[in-house]
Amino acid sequence: MMNTYRRIVLAQRPKGEIASECFRLETLPVPELVPGQILVKNHYLSLDPYMRGRMSGRKSYANPQPLNETMIGGTVGEVIASENPQWKIGDRVAGMFGWSELGISDGQGLRRISADIPASAYLGILGMPGMTAWYGINQILKPVAGKTVVISSASGAVGGTAGQLAKRLGCRVVGIAGGPEKCAYVQQALGFDACIDYKQADWKNAFASATPDGIDAVFENVGGEIFDASLARMNPFGRIALCGMISGYNGEDIPILNSRALLTMRLMVQGFIVTEHPECWPQGLSELEVLVRDQQLQFRESVSQGLESAPEALIGLLKGRNFGKQLVRF
Ligand SMILES: NC(=O)c1ccc[n+]([C@@H]2O[C@H](COP(=O)([O-])OP(=O)(O)OC[C@H]3O[C@@H](n4cnc5c(N)ncnc54)[C@H](OP(=O)(O)O)[C@@H]3O)[C@@H](O)[C@H]2O)c1
Repeated sequence: MMNTYRRIVLAQRPKGEIASECFRLETLPVPELVPGQILVKNHYLSLDPYMRGRMSGRKSYANPQPLNETMIGGTVGEVIASENPQWKIGDRVAGMFGWSELGISDGQGLRRISADIPASAYLGILGMPGMTAWYGINQILKPVAGKTVVISSASGAVGGTAGQLAKRLGCRVVGIAGGPEKCAYVQQALGFDACIDYKQADWKNAFASATPDGIDAVFENVGGEIFDASLARMNPFGRIALCGMISGYNGEDIPILNSRALLTMRLMVQGFIVTEHPECWPQGLSELEVLVRDQQLQFRESVSQGLESAPEALIGLLKGRNFGKQLVRF
């Protein structure tokens, strides 16, 4: 049994883009368990765009990440010591132990994870990002066969899943992603009907060609110019699931220039935070698990090695350097 473990705390709040100085790596002694507690060795940490918002002191839907405390984050791992009769050594568990090699818990809020699916999937397609895709598609957009659905950040953890779910409903699905490699993956591996590379100069023409009948539903992950391009092509009574606006997470303004379309096309825009809908999680996660087990849904991961790599990997995620779900492996 190890005597010490490492964690990363928020050392200072970023101004604009995150810098590595915002974080501090610490080594701590492993605490003694008291009755009822378990000790979990984390194998993977999830890095997610919401972490950028928590790092700033700004008012939002959740409280800021406190300074000098373990950075928030989802983890998967296994129980390595137990003083709790409901958990035994070797049990696989998903939790929110943060940027830390170990987690201590009384078991509350932990999720047992299946042994026949790679544990890392429970941080992506079978975790919060997958659930976000499921909620946005099934509870907000509710697209029907033949309608055109646009998904931004289409190669990512949320977008890649959302697009596949819309395809399964019989929709025409058009992705938007950065670069030819991501777009090829979105079309060939994820089965979208088209994917537009927004880094190409003439991408808006290509986007128009890919949505010849206009757009009925948008799963928006980016905001800004990309969202505006969709707004300009919306059909009457179109629906928009406003999931994320990552183009503004470093504090940039995110203007909506084509706001006229909201009125003239009588659009429904619904922002949502997936953690505010716990009642949907059991159904969503079990449906996703069936589809993943049957290989009906595809996903990919970007894995960085070692806790100390987490700051750089989060910086990369916010710049689009990830390709699929961004994880850290310990
Ligand atoms: N509402 C909720 O409850 C909820 C829950 C989870 C996630 N989200 C949101 O869902 C979105 C996707 O999250 P994810 O975890 O699946 O991340 P992801 O899509 O796997 O990774 C982030 C991607 O965002 C794109 N990006 C970054 N900066 C950009 C910019 N300035 N312009 C355009 N694209 C940019 C990059 O892809 P490209 O290379 O293609 O640009 C990057 O790879 C985020 O906005 C996130 O905040 C919301």
